[in-house]
Amino acid sequence: MNITRQIAPDIHWVGVNDRRLQRFENMFPLPQGVAYNSYLITGEKTILLDTVDSSVRDQFIENVAYVLGNRSLDYLVINHMEPDHCGNIEAIVRSYPNVKVIGNAKTFQFFSQYYAMDLSNHAIEVSDGQLLDFGSHKLRFYFAPMVHWPEVMFCVEERNGILFSADAFGSFGTLPGALFSDELDFDTLFLAETRRYYSNIVGRFGSQVHSVLQKLPLDTITMIAPLHGPLHRKEYVSRVLELHKTWSLYAPEQKGVVLAYASMYQNTEQAVEALAFKLGELGVKEMRIYDVSNTHPSYIIADIFKYSHLVLGAPTYNMNLYLPMEALLKELQVLNLQNRHVAIIANHSWASVAKKGLNQLVGAMKNITMIEPQLDIRSTLKRNQMEQLDSLAQAIADSLNSPDAP
Ligand code: FEO
Repeated sequence: MNITRQIAPDIHWVGVNDRRLQRFENMFPLPQGVAYNSYLITGEKTILLDTVDSSVRDQFIENVAYVLGNRSLDYLVINHMEPDHCGNIEAIVRSYPNVKVIGNAKTFQFFSQYYAMDLSNHAIEVSDGQLLDFGSHKLRFYFAPMVHWPEVMFCVEERNGILFSADAFGSFGTLPGALFSDELDFDTLFLAETRRYYSNIVGRFGSQVHSVLQKLPLDTITMIAPLHGPLHRKEYVSRVLELHKTWSLYAPEQKGVVLAYASMYQNTEQAVEALAFKLGELGVKEMRIYDVSNTHPSYIIADIFKYSHLVLGAPTYNMNLYLPMEALLKELQVLNLQNRHVAIIANHSWASVAKKGLNQLVGAMKNITMIEPQLDIRSTLKRNQMEQLDSLAQAIADSLNSPDAP
């Protein structure tokens, strides 16, 4: 049974929803699955833009065959060579043996690393900025190296102004019948998952994302067609571009506090909770509290990308910083998190290691403003430390209210 949809004259979505996959890249939870988008142009020439994961091959091949009807496939464009999109290149070439495969030098290098098939008789290598004229449709290619792989390229279909953007502007989550963000409740269904996808998958490569945003002909783009999640048109084009520009600069979207804590016996938890209640009393409305042992880090990271302030609470464990907190901070380092205001509550019973560990890991990030005082409690927060906690809460609230705050 084919499931396809026309998105513009002679241009069709031929992707597949995967509602069964539990973890993206075997790492990130997918409570709503994931969509693998693929597009087929049926003008003077037939052009398929990317394939999908091998696990959903049957549906995909049926979709492509249905839209082609009695035509064959002339071209396959490979904008991204990661297996969730290149898993059916071999199947497509076998099904349409005269197809020409369009990629760049790195695309074909990666193809030969993953697959045994010899593509040399099919390959057309494009360069950055090159225009390919297919008669009724023209595609201009824009290399987007390290967004988030080296071979990634985007292409713009110039007649309709459609940006085929590989993984960029994508999201976790399957398409709920509606295909475009303006046809569904984007803020409820996809905004958080788009942020979680960006921050965890592409977050490290902010400068590369920023560079490619500079070179794209953004004023001509009327639709963004990513490889995951909903397509964007109308007001969502500028909204999604603006969000990605903010994220690529590691600028917070809004003022607010993420309180991420690790706690063995709820003592550090209690200290963080007490701080949160003081912040609430001081009028801080935007707060998100996470136990790093209970919430997958991808969700915490997404909110840390969203908000301006971060409170970290953790005990010493085995003469080290509590490991799930250390793992979270190392991940944030790898993702290049910058430009945040950070407060610290450490805990220890006989050897104070957590405070040093938190400071070292956060201190290695760029443009971090540490908020004082830092608390280093002994086993439990005592009444005589409440004054210190009050000072910390006031300092966080003042920083949030400061016109200089991000
Ligand atoms: Fe959706 Fe980078 O693969």
